[in-house]
Formats: sequence, C-alpha cells, structure tokens
Amino acid sequence: MSKLAIDGGAPVRSRGPIVETDVFEEEELQALLTVAKQKKLRRAEATVEYEQALAEWFGVKHAIAVSSGTTSLHIALAAFGVGPGDEVIVTPYTFIASNTCVLEQNAVPIFADVDPVHLTLDPADIERKITKRTKAIIPVAITGTPVDMDPIMDLARKHNLWVLEDAAQSLGATYKGRKIGTIGHVGSFSTITGKITNTGEGGFVITDDDDLADKMWGYSDFARKRALGKASKYHFGLPCTNYRITNMQAAIGLEQMKKADRLIAQRTANARYLTERLKGLPGITTPAEPEWGDRVYFYYVIRLNRQVLGADMLSFAAALAAEGVYDLGYISTTRWIIPQHLEPVFVNKSGYGGKSCPFDCKYYDGHVEYGPGLCPVAETACEEVFWLASVHPLLERQDLDDVADAVIKVATAFAEKTAAGVRFDYGTPELRARL
Ligand SMILES: Cc1ncc(COP(=O)(O)O)c(C=O)c1O
Repeated sequence: MSKLAIDGGAPVRSRGPIVETDVFEEEELQALLTVAKQKKLRRAEATVEYEQALAEWFGVKHAIAVSSGTTSLHIALAAFGVGPGDEVIVTPYTFIASNTCVLEQNAVPIFADVDPVHLTLDPADIERKITKRTKAIIPVAITGTPVDMDPIMDLARKHNLWVLEDAAQSLGATYKGRKIGTIGHVGSFSTITGKITNTGEGGFVITDDDDLADKMWGYSDFARKRALGKASKYHFGLPCTNYRITNMQAAIGLEQMKKADRLIAQRTANARYLTERLKGLPGITTPAEPEWGDRVYFYYVIRLNRQVLGADMLSFAAALAAEGVYDLGYISTTRWIIPQHLEPVFVNKSGYGGKSCPFDCKYYDGHVEYGPGLCPVAETACEEVFWLASVHPLLERQDLDDVADAVIKVATAFAEKTAAGVRFDYGTPELRARL
C-alpha cells in the first residue's frame, strides 16, 4: 500500500475535491433567457407551468413553488395551525431547517431518536414522545433514504397529528411504490444548488389537501387567495410573509423536472458504482438500501468503524483531504452533521428577540431540556457517519474512481496501522476547533 499523502506520499487526485454543483445545461440557459427577454422575472407563466409539472410528476393535486426548502417547511407548519403551546416531533439527524421551522411558529421541537441503520425517525421513540401538546411530526428522508412512513402515519391517525415530510434531500425516493413527499399531509422539498433538482435557491410544497394548499399559498404570498388568481387582493388578517419564488428560478425548475428521472438515475448509478468499489473494505459500511422502497442519492455517506480504523471521523477526513478528494470546508457545514438537539439554539432555548419564548411561555405547560444523551443513536451516528461526496450527474468515472481509490487507500492504511498497534491522529487542534 502506497504511503498516505498526509504522511508525505503522493495524493490520489490533483484536480481538486468534488464539490456540489448545479446541473445547469443548455435547456436551463434557454429557459432563463426566454423569461428574461419576456421581462417576466417575477411570478408569471413559467412559475404556473413549473407548479403544474411538479404536481403531475408527483401525482398530487397541488404544488406551490417558494423561495427555499426552509420557507416551504415554514408555510406547511403555519397551515397546520401549529402555534404557541404546541409541540412538534422532529429528528436530530438532519439539517437545522427541519427543526427551526418549529420555532418560527413559536412551538417547541421535541426530538425523537433515529433508527441506527437508516438514520430516519424511530417510530417507537416518536410514540414515547407524544403528549397532549403534540401537533405534528416532521420525518426527514435524509441523504435520499425514504422513511418507513406506515408506522408514522398510524401514530398520526391515532393521535390526530399532522405529518410534514421533509423530503428536501430525497426527490424521487419511493416508499412502497409511492413517491416520498406524497404520504404525509404535506411534502416539502429544496432545490438549492447540490440538491437533486436545482434552481440555485428554491423549494416547493406538495399536497392533496385543498384547504392546506390554500393556506400555504396565503402564507407564502401576503395571505392572497390562490383561487382568485391575479384578482386576489392582499388579506392582512393573519401574520403572513413573502416567500415567492422568481419566474427565473421556476423556468429553470421546469426544465429540471423534465429531466428529473435522468438526474435521479445518474446519481443512483454513480452511488452504486462507489458501493461496488467500496464494499467489503475494512472499517467501512456502504449505504443501506431500505427494504420498504427505492432510495435516491443526494449524498453518498459511509459509516466508519472507529475501532477497526483506529481513528475518528476527523482523522479520516483530514487524510482524505490530503489525498485530494475531500474539502475540509465541509467539516464546519451541513455536510458534517452534529446532533440537532445539541445545537446552541436548542441547548440555550433561544427564542426570537432573545426571549425564552416558546419554551417559557404562558401557553406552554410542558418542560423540555436539550442536551447530550437525549438521542443516543443519533449522537453515535454523528461520530461515525461520514458524508463522503455528492454523486451529482456531472461527475465522470474518473472522479468516482478518485474518491473510491482514496477511501480504499486511507481505510486500508488506517486498518493496517491499527492492526500493527501504531497510534495516529490527524485531527489537529486547528481542525478540531472548526467542528
Ligand atoms: C433536510 C433538509 N431540510 C431542509 C433544507 C432547507 O432547504 P433550503 O436550503 O432550500 O432552505 C435542507 C437543505 O438545505 C435539507 O437538507
């Protein structure tokens, strides 16, 4: 085995690490030029067509395109009527937006733990966390993995709860033949750069519920009434906001939806190629394929066995970065997940305006503390599940081979050193300070 680059050997790759990107092709460019030439930059025909295309692709009655996957979560909770005094059950293994949307409605997030293989909400723990205050559940299909939705929907029916599927990372994943996002009351998606379809910034909600659709529309556009179209005036009877998407983004999104099946298939092929190359490697577990549906691949994540490798995730990341396939900038971003219940906003119970509302609030008669040990499965996963690379469709075979070669080189060297009793730690204090 050749010497690791971090020990002074030659790196596997010199073309720079793989980074997330928009898949922006000739069709997207032409669509953008068209709306620009029409001088229709804000909501217009292309946005309407985009929403129709989304509704058709998912086989649902309503799709509403908005400014981001964060604002789409917010309008859904607002439409459910979640407010002060309510609790919403959320997952600790996700991006912060899945949980801060609860605070936006002045409600209290309650973390349930995840299942250790798929890293999605564990229905048994959800059930333990349900109280008379619970109003909704937000299951997140993380990395492209469909959530086992039947037990969650059973709980929702039993306790009269809303279900908001955060499918930001999982466009096209299926559960028992149904598209993820169409099973709960509302499905929420992000189309930011790097996601499965891209509009730069953007998101959308889907639902079959007419009433929820009307409300979400209103919350996204100053309480206007969708059914009245352009004739609708603004109704300021409720708090509302402007989360509209632009016509430029929608025009790009429309082109993306025409090729969504191809984008998904290319990502899946890239991921399966990596799995072929990495399976059986000491100390590495390749992504699980759930038995209840077909996953997609937003990101390719591997699980590290810290005993076999004799190192933590930071040492592994530093060694891969030295091989030229990993961007160390990711260790302080959303591609290095930390358990959400340990984020300062929750630990310090920070509300808007520096106040402790919704946690200490006359409407809230519960009590919650956030800290280590609350969700042990997720806490361990955050020490072991390594977000290796995007598998976006523009990657070439050589890119995938570089990633695989580097992982094989690093994992093999780590395992050999460890078996020989050699101790090492590449996580410098400077790197640790960035976590
Ligand atoms: C699971 C999840 N939920 C919500 C979001 C928020 O989406 P956006 O960045 O478009 O606001 C993201 C991604 O960025 C995400 O990964």
